[in-house]
Amino acid sequence: MKTKKLKTVVSVMALAVSFSAFAANDDRALLKEAQDVFQPLPTAKQMQQKHGFTDAQVKLGKTLFFDPRLSKGGTVSCNSCHNLASYGVDNMSFSQGFKGQFGGRNAPSVLNSSLFVAQFWDGRAKDVEEQAGGPMLNPLEMAMPSEKAVEKVLRSIPDYQPLFDAAYGKSKTGTNVTFQNATKAIGAFERTLLTPSRFDRYLTGDINALTAPERAGLKKFMEVGCIACHYGVGLGGDSYQKFGLVKGPYWQFTGSKKPDEGRFEVTKNADDQYVFRVPGLRNIARTYPYFHDGSIWSLNQAVDIMVQAQLGQKLSDKDINDIVAFLNSLTGQVPAQALVMPQLPPSTLNTPRPDND
Ligand code: HEC
Ligand code: HEC
Repeated sequence: MKTKKLKTVVSVMALAVSFSAFAANDDRALLKEAQDVFQPLPTAKQMQQKHGFTDAQVKLGKTLFFDPRLSKGGTVSCNSCHNLASYGVDNMSFSQGFKGQFGGRNAPSVLNSSLFVAQFWDGRAKDVEEQAGGPMLNPLEMAMPSEKAVEKVLRSIPDYQPLFDAAYGKSKTGTNVTFQNATKAIGAFERTLLTPSRFDRYLTGDINALTAPERAGLKKFMEVGCIACHYGVGLGGDSYQKFGLVKGPYWQFTGSKKPDEGRFEVTKNADDQYVFRVPGLRNIARTYPYFHDGSIWSLNQAVDIMVQAQLGQKLSDKDINDIVAFLNSLTGQVPAQALVMPQLPPSTLNTPRPDND
C-alpha cells in the first residue's frame, strides 16, 4: 500500500519533471526565434558613439525641447505634444498647437523614434535632426514665421549663449546660435530617449523576464504574422505599409471621416496611397489613442483591427488578450534625466513677446 503510493508520487513527479523540461525546450526555441526577429535597444552611450554627439548638445537640446518661447504664442513647446511625463505623447486624438488649433494626425511618441527609418507617419523627414525644424515652423503647431525668427528669440536670451558655446564651441566668425544648431541639439537629446523594457532583458537571454502569458502572446504575435511589419529594434518603424493591406479601406475600421492618403502626399506615387511608416510598438500600452487618426482608445481593439485589416484573419479573445499581454511587456523605463525639468534661461526686454495674431 505504502510502496504503491510512493510509486505513484514518484511517477507523477517524473512526469512533471519531463513536462517542464519539455516546456523549457519550447521556451528556449521561442527565445531563439525572437532573437532572430527583434533586437534589444542600444544604450544612450552607444548612440552617442555611433552618431557623434556630446553631453553638452544633449543638455542644450533638452532645454530647447521644453522651451515654449520657440513658439509664436509662447505657450507651446515640443513637450506640450510629446510630454515626457506620459511616454512622449499627449494622449489626445489630435494635438492642440498655436491658438488651440488641432492638427490632422495623432502625435507619435518621441521615445525611441530616432531609431526609425524616417520620421512622421508618412516618413517625410529623414531623421530626428531634420524633423525637429518642422514643428517650430508649422502654422498649426508652434507657428514661428521663419528660422530667423527662432534665432532672434534664442539670441535675445543671453543665458542660452554658454549652452551653445559648450555644445558647439565658441564661434570665431559670427554666432553659433543658429536654427540648425538648435535642431541638431534637439535631435541629439531625442537620440538619448530610449526606454529599455523587460522585453530587452528577455532578448538578452532571461526567459523569465516575460511571464508565461506574455510569452504566449509573443508566440502568437510571431505566428500570426505581425512580425512581417513589426520587427527589429523598434518592433516597427522600419518599413512603409498600406493600412488596410488585406481588408480595407482602413476607415471601415477606424471610422475616420476624412481619409488620409499617407505617403502618397509625399511621393504622389499611386502605390503609396494609404501607406504609412509602420509605427514602432515600444510603450504602446501608454501611447493611446491609436493609429494616425487617433481613433481607437482600446489596445485590444487596435490589435483586432490589425489582425483583420493587415492579415485578413480573426483571432479569439484569448489570443488577442495574450498579444496585448505581450505588448504590455514593451513598456519601458523613461531615462530618469529626461523626467527632470530643465531650468529655462530667462527672457530679457529684447525677447520677442508672445504674439497671438
Ligand atoms: C502641436 C503639437 C506638436 C508639437 C508642438 C510638436 N509636435 Fe512633434 N508631432 C506632432 C504630430 C501631430 C506629429 C505627427 C505628424 C505627422 O506625422 O504628419 C509629430 C511627429 C513628431 C516626430 C516623429 C515621430 C515618429 O514616430 O515619426 C518627432 C520625432 C517629433 N514630432 C518631435 C517633435 C519636436 C522635437 C518638437 C519641438 C521642436 C515637436 N515634435 C513639436 C505634434 C507636435
Ligand atoms: C502589413 C503590415 C502590418 C502587419 C502585418 C501588422 N501591422 Fe500593425 N501597423 C501597421 C501599420 C502601417 C500601422 C499604422 C496604421 C495607421 O495608423 O495608419 C500599424 C499600427 C499598429 C498599431 C497602432 C500603433 C500606434 O502607435 O497607433 C498596433 C497596436 C499594431 N499595429 C499592432 C499590430 C499587431 C498586434 C499585429 C499582428 C496581429 C500587426 N500590427 C500587424 C502595419 C502592420
